[in-house]
This record gives sequence, structure tokens and C-alpha cells, in this order.
Amino acid sequence: MASEKPQDLMVTCTAPVNIAVIKYWGKRDEALILPINSSLSVTLHQDQLKTTTTVAISKDFTEDRIWLNGREEDVGQPRLQACLRETRRSWELRAQTPESQLCLLGNLVSHKVGRTLQAELCSTLTLAPASVSPAVPSAYALAQAYGVEGDLSEVARQGSGSACRSLYGGFVEWQMGEQADGKDSIARQIAPEWHWPQLRVLILVVSADKKQTGSTVGMQTSVKTSALLKFRAESVVPERMKEMTRCIQEQDFQGFAQLTMKDSNQFHATCLDTFPPISYLNDTSRRIIQLVHRFNTHHGQTKVAYTFDAGPNAVIFTLEDTVAEFVAAVRHSFPPAANGDKFLKGLQVAPVLLSDELKAALAVEPSPGGVQYIIATQVGPGPQVLDNTHDHLLGPDGLPPRDL
Ligand code: DP6
Repeated sequence: MASEKPQDLMVTCTAPVNIAVIKYWGKRDEALILPINSSLSVTLHQDQLKTTTTVAISKDFTEDRIWLNGREEDVGQPRLQACLRETRRSWELRAQTPESQLCLLGNLVSHKVGRTLQAELCSTLTLAPASVSPAVPSAYALAQAYGVEGDLSEVARQGSGSACRSLYGGFVEWQMGEQADGKDSIARQIAPEWHWPQLRVLILVVSADKKQTGSTVGMQTSVKTSALLKFRAESVVPERMKEMTRCIQEQDFQGFAQLTMKDSNQFHATCLDTFPPISYLNDTSRRIIQLVHRFNTHHGQTKVAYTFDAGPNAVIFTLEDTVAEFVAAVRHSFPPAANGDKFLKGLQVAPVLLSDELKAALAVEPSPGGVQYIIATQVGPGPQVLDNTHDHLLGPDGLPPRDL
């Protein structure tokens, strides 16, 4: 029986953002998105940052379409096409077996096996700084819609390499793999989201502008020109992956924090070693680095760590008992411009007064407005399917509502 409505199936999923503590930088295969080194990340909680995607599939659609944040985008983008192609390929493979035909027929009304059903996607980002990629919700939501099971790393990677680490909550490694076909280049959870409940994350939004050199192009140039990157991938990262895994498993914050900062610094050193050089950090980023080191020196131990990706925003790791004091230190160094009450978003952080000793130890010339705002969050779970039809971002006609 054919459905009256254009969509025969609609699925809405949310996916988290992840922050690498051992960085991925450089591909050994551009087409398959295979990295030159393994990487490790922390999945952030979706209460503060998430992407939501609705996928509608229908035999009545004549073409694929995609909207991002309410605006229709070019569906021909190579990476989106790769996600769609990979998902449909897996679906078609599954559809060869009688069992999966039944399951798919349950989902999709009167389709013929082997026919390419068209998908519509609609994605929206919540509170996300500009660098967040919508690839994972697309990959995850597409897989849910098409009923594709198993490891999704291959599909998620097609959107953005680092995105495959957002397929899981908690602490996640992306094993670089060795095979030429990339089948062993997969994301794997090393500890669940409840493993280290005291861990807190602060995103210091320095600039929400688009990055000057995108990661894809940046890492291509680094692979071609940086001897330091080659050394890092071959001789530094393998040991660091083991050490970081140990720190996480044993909740060794000092070890975790120091290695996180060292790895961020080495990644940015490889950017400077790239020719022509790439610099993602700005003056505010460097002031944040100084602030963290002075804060730690004052306390005589590593209580806070920073990490920076391909942009000037800082991600800070600390423990529950240190969050309030560090937020106060950020306010002291970067007095909010006009938005004092909106400076802190996300988890509640109680205001505290800084001691005169700490103020003196920070010894900073305040930079008003340097940090635009802070998002306080924690470790969180992986992608979720939303059951409530009210959560769909596409209306019954398969189009986004006008006010999205
Ligand atoms: C600095 O995943 O954005 O954030 O695979 O080309 O899409 P592509 O690159 P992308 O690179 C992210 C690099 C990084 C470090 C990391 O997240 O591991």
C-alpha cells in the first residue's frame, strides 16, 4: 500500500561533538580518509552541544536534498555524496538477503530491492562553535533510516575523519589501521561516559569565525612538507596512545592533562613546520596557554589542561573541584565585554572570588572581550535516536518548517 505522504520513513538522531586529546593530522589515503596516526578523543555531553539530523526517505522523492540550519545546501558536496553512497551500498548489500528484505520492507513501503531510494536530510547545530562538523549525525541518521547495522566508522569518516570518533560516548580511539582498504581503520570506545564523573570541560570561545585554513587542506600541506609531522606520526603518537589510554583508565588527571597539552602543542608545532606555515592560534589563544600554566604553577600541580584544534578556541579539561576557580581566573583575565550575564553557558558554575595570591600569580594585563563566552560541559554519551515525532526537523511534506 503506497503512503499518501511524500515520506515513507523519517528518523531523527542527535550526535555529539568530540575533542581530541591525541590529535589526528594527516591522511595516508585521501579518498578513503585513512589517517597517518591513531587519535583519541573525549565525547562531549549533548545537553550542551549537539547536532540533530532528520532523514526522510521516500520512493516519491525524485532527488536528494539537504538543509543545514534551515538553509538548503548543495547536495553534490563530495563528502555528503560519499556518505550517501556508502550507506546505500551497505543497504543494498544487506537487501540481497531475504531476512533483511523483510526488515527493509517493514520500513519502506513498496520499494524494489536495488532501487536507490532518495533521502532528504535536515541538520541543525545547537550552540556549536563554527568548527563543528555535521557529518556524524548525517552518517548515523542515514544508517538508522536505511536500517544499516555494524561499524559505521567507514561511513562517518567520509564526512570528516575526526567525526568517526563521535559514534561513541565517553573516551574513544580511532585506530589508524594498516589495511589499504581501510577496513581496520575504526573508532572504538576505550571507556564509557560514566567512567570519570569528576572530569569537566570548558570551551573558551575566542572567535566563532570560520577557520582560515580548513583542516583538510591544512593537513594535506603538512603531509607533503612537514618532516616533524612524519616523525610525530611514526615515532611519537604510538607511545602516546598507550600512555593516554592508561591515564584515562586509571583516572590519572596529572598525566592526562600534561599529555593533552603536549599533544596539542606538538600538533600546532607541525602546523608551523608546514610550508608555507599554518597558524591556528591567535594572541588570545596564547594568553590562555599562559594563564593555564601560571594557574598550575601557583597550585604546584597540573589542575587544568588546554587543547586547541584547527582554530583559536580553547578546550579546557579540569576536575569538578577546580572549575569554579578557573572560570573566575578566565573572567579576571578576559573581563566580559557587554554580555556579563551570558558569559557562561551550559553547566552551572558557582561564582567564587579569586585570592590575591592567585591574582598576583596570574600577573595578567586583562584583555577585555578576548574570550567571547564559555560553554561548561562534561563527558557524554554517543548518538541517540529521538522517538518523539515532534523532534523531526522535516515536516509531513518532507520540507523543513519555515521558522527553522
Ligand atoms: C585538528 O576531521 O576536520 O581537529 O578528515 O579532512 O575532514 P578531515 O579533517 P578533520 O580534522 C580534524 C583535525 C583536528 C584534530 C582532531 O580532531 O583529531
